Amino acid sequence: MEIDLERVLCRLSELDATGCREFRLGGGEWPALGFALKAGAEVHAYLNRCAHQALPLNMLPDRFLTHDGSLILCTAHGALFEKRTGFCVSGPCFGASLERVAVQVVAGLVLLDEAVDVAALVARFA
Ligand code: FES
Repeated sequence: MEIDLERVLCRLSELDATGCREFRLGGGEWPALGFALKAGAEVHAYLNRCAHQALPLNMLPDRFLTHDGSLILCTAHGALFEKRTGFCVSGPCFGASLERVAVQVVAGLVLLDEAVDVAALVARFA
């Protein structure tokens, strides 16, 4: 299988240290920022924009989870999101969701799904 290297977000093994890995899509001053995470054997990815005020969720590199690793935490105002769905279960944006980025795991690599329109995502950050 041929892998499009431009769609590689990270190695699957890079998710082991913190459970998450940040990535950027597109170049320029306003790339789309996101993060991939492990939820059991599954890998999910979301844009790094909180459903509350569109702020980045993390303050430290690759740190997106609560202390016990069970939920995604927004450090701005404490919203909590499910890892598998991005659904906000607590906080000021309760009931809203993070924006999912479709990914697939191939040969130990986390790849952006071919259906994702990178240019459209990046344009929303401009
Ligand atoms: S910006 Fe995330 S909880 Fe307010």
